[in-house]
Amino acid sequence: MALVFVPLETEPGETRVAVAPETVKALVKAGLSVSVATNAGLEAGYTDAEYEEAGASLGDKLAEADLVLSIRPLTSEQSGKLKAGAFTVSSLQPTVHVDEIKGLADAKANAFSLELVPRITRAQKMDILSSQATAAGYQAVLLAAAALPNFFPLFMTAAGTIKPAKVFILGAGVAGLQAIATARRLGAVVEANDVRPAVKEQVESLGAKFVDTGTPPQAESTGGYATETTHEYLMKQQEILTKHVSEANVVITTALIPGRKAPVILDAKMVAAMRPGSVIVDLAVAAGGNVEGSVCGETVDVGGVKIIGEPNLPALVAADSSRMWSRNVWEFVKPMIGEGGKLEPDWEDEIIAATIVAKGGEVVNAAAKEAQGAS
Ligand SMILES: NC(=O)c1ccc[n+]([C@@H]2O[C@H](COP(=O)([O-])OP(=O)(O)OC[C@H]3O[C@@H](n4cnc5c(N)ncnc54)[C@H](O)[C@@H]3O)[C@@H](O)[C@H]2O)c1
Repeated sequence: MALVFVPLETEPGETRVAVAPETVKALVKAGLSVSVATNAGLEAGYTDAEYEEAGASLGDKLAEADLVLSIRPLTSEQSGKLKAGAFTVSSLQPTVHVDEIKGLADAKANAFSLELVPRITRAQKMDILSSQATAAGYQAVLLAAAALPNFFPLFMTAAGTIKPAKVFILGAGVAGLQAIATARRLGAVVEANDVRPAVKEQVESLGAKFVDTGTPPQAESTGGYATETTHEYLMKQQEILTKHVSEANVVITTALIPGRKAPVILDAKMVAAMRPGSVIVDLAVAAGGNVEGSVCGETVDVGGVKIIGEPNLPALVAADSSRMWSRNVWEFVKPMIGEGGKLEPDWEDEIIAATIVAKGGEVVNAAAKEAQGAS
């Protein structure tokens, strides 16, 4: 029977936990034994008692674990304590966590990275990028609403009529669409833009207006992600967006290109054209940012415009973002569980092959290998 361990996340500001009590129940029912570090779920709102009730034991079982489930990669120090051949599942971001991946390879761990799950139908339930982007898009709107000196909805009161806030969403992927839906629920008037033409209909179905800036050549790669645009396209896009952005009370930017720095679309001139009191939330800040002047981890004031650069929005709504992550992890682990609660991944499976980063003492993911070479 394999032993699963859920550590306490140690990264500052990381309030999420990879496994919620309901997933402990599922793991135990599937024949695994589960140990959870004391207070591992506390910041996400899950108590030790709830984990025990679900069937987990409490305590540090890192050194004995067959499977370690975490949000952030294990530190090299933690990996040093692992048994050879232990499995780990977290988000490794091969080009970012170079030292941690080396630590996992040195420990001869089988290290999986959940954000590498391919975008195929069978893997949708395992997709942490989607689940966490949903949380981020939602939370971005709440931060903006709290920072804005205006109401979001139309108010018709004895003290007069107040016009609804105008919200502009740049990038209508998973986070952007959730931001549109949340801003609409709060009663704002919403506009959105994206390079992928397929999203126009989705934007409109949520009750927002699509601002069309045309489609750059090969706007979409396989898997539904955006590709990099040309300088000419950016110029045209900025020209069209300037008017919409300057009229908005809130701008939420979510434009990302996988594996690349995020495109800077809102330049300083566009920010300066916004009225004082307006709020920008740059969801792409950890990937370099969509907004000139945004700072990772800070809220900066540029001429009265607040630019919020919160890099970990899902951590601000940790109970539900953890619950979603936990379900993603469960769906990923479930097919690996064999007879007698043993872990037996099918190494030929497309999802397993795409997500394995270190195995048998080697870094095996191509991007991670390249990053190791470069460091
Ligand atoms: N399993 C699956 O099939 C699966 C799972 C999740 C998402 N998806 C699809 O993948 C697509 C992308 O999802 P995502 O949210 O992860 O994307 P993402 O986080 O990589 O990017 C966010 C959005 O920014 C847009 N963008 C990029 N560059 C831009 C620019 N210069 N200007 C304006 N917008 C720009 C992208 O088109 C995307 O819509 C969506 O259509 C989503 O439905 C598929």
